Amino acid sequence: MNPVRMIVLGAGARGMDAYAPYSLIAPDQLKIVGVAEPRESRRAAFAARYGLPDCAAFSDWRETLSAGIEADAVLVATQDNQHVDPACLAMERGYDVLLEKPIAKTESELRRIYDTSLRTGKRAAVCHVLRYTRFFNTLKAIIDSGEIGDVINISHSENIGYWHMAHSFVRGNWRREDETSPMILAKSCHDADILLYLVGKDCLRVASFGSLKHFTAENAPEGSADRCLDCPVAATCPYNATRLYMIPFLTGWPVSVITDDVSAEGRLKALREGPYGRCVYRCDNDVVDHQSTVLEFEGGVTATLTVSAFTDFRHGRTIHIMGSHGEIRAKMSDETIEVTNFRDGSVRTTENPLPGGMGDGHGGGDFGLIASFIRMERGEDGAVKSSIRDAIQSHLICIAAEDSRKNHTVVDIHNVG
Ligand SMILES: NC(=O)c1ccc[n+]([C@@H]2O[C@H](COP(=O)([O-])OP(=O)(O)OC[C@H]3O[C@@H](n4cnc5c(N)ncnc54)[C@H](O)[C@@H]3O)[C@@H](O)[C@H]2O)c1
Repeated sequence: MNPVRMIVLGAGARGMDAYAPYSLIAPDQLKIVGVAEPRESRRAAFAARYGLPDCAAFSDWRETLSAGIEADAVLVATQDNQHVDPACLAMERGYDVLLEKPIAKTESELRRIYDTSLRTGKRAAVCHVLRYTRFFNTLKAIIDSGEIGDVINISHSENIGYWHMAHSFVRGNWRREDETSPMILAKSCHDADILLYLVGKDCLRVASFGSLKHFTAENAPEGSADRCLDCPVAATCPYNATRLYMIPFLTGWPVSVITDDVSAEGRLKALREGPYGRCVYRCDNDVVDHQSTVLEFEGGVTATLTVSAFTDFRHGRTIHIMGSHGEIRAKMSDETIEVTNFRDGSVRTTENPLPGGMGDGHGGGDFGLIASFIRMERGEDGAVKSSIRDAIQSHLICIAAEDSRKNHTVVDIHNVG
């Protein structure tokens, strides 16, 4: 069987490193055949790594999609604001699409993607990588086995981590809603999606609360400076950029995001001149740093979803699933799962012996997703675990949560299809 041929739009962190490397370890399954990336050095690095000729590398997604490249699918890995148009044009041009989340920011854009997929007959799969992790599939299997009875409610937390918050949502790409997305859409459409997966029912309505409470000018420590390198109180600040970016052996994410030159000089230059050296209390960020959302599903099942900066990244996602006949308490980072069975009072704990965890491509989800996408392209029904309808529903939940948070109302979900 020939490898699935894929074009990559956006050779940033995701486009370069999340799924395309699969083509290097399984060239019989995946072949990268084109790229769009405006940054020349990134484009050249991508073309060199994946063996692309000059005629297959362009600076803009429109050019790549107009070049008549023979391919089966397009990975849309541009930034949040540039997903809908490339995804729809790719489907119009006859390509299936693998679309990074958040796929769109408004209900009408979501419907446009859904309608384009139906009209063109092209498949749109969404990068909801958590559905492909061993951790969440183990939880799903326990629920489906009936061991804890009926799921009644779930308490789920996305522990962003204090330094990850500073990196991505205060100094970095996702700090402003107008440039990318509200925090809940950017970070937690994954969590809304995994709740849909575990509950297995539609979500009917949501209410949400939260704000940008800490990363504001009023909270700047006395005597602090605009940049960490000049700051007299940096040593006592948990968000001090030098603590995060100057660790010599750390050369991948998040250091690779701040500069292409990861030498000590390159990093210091980035901290002196670029956005990642700024004081976290003096940035132009506006997304929330904590948000709690209550969801009601069909059949009266409820869930709470808390996303917070004020956590340790090492804990990753934590979840408590409460059933009629038992409960599950679980932590994604070390894949610890404790199941209590109310029928006999027994408690069992499983700890996965294999390495996984947060640093490993979303707990194995990145490669799990691309492997499933390839199987779908090769004709295996159900290989991709998230339907476009479910993926859209996860986004509708987040859009409704934001509406609720801003307007102090309970918001109904109007599903597509
Ligand atoms: N599925 C996940 O778990 C997951 C994780 C992180 C990020 N994401 C999402 O993936 C997307 C990409 O994130 P990232 O961290 O790689 O961002 P990034 O900024 O590193 O990459 C985006 C790339 O798109 C390029 N670009 C800009 N304009 C372009 C154009 N006109 N044509 C082609 N390329 C263009 C940029 O130069 C950049 O290299 C975002 O939407 C993000 O929210 C998903």
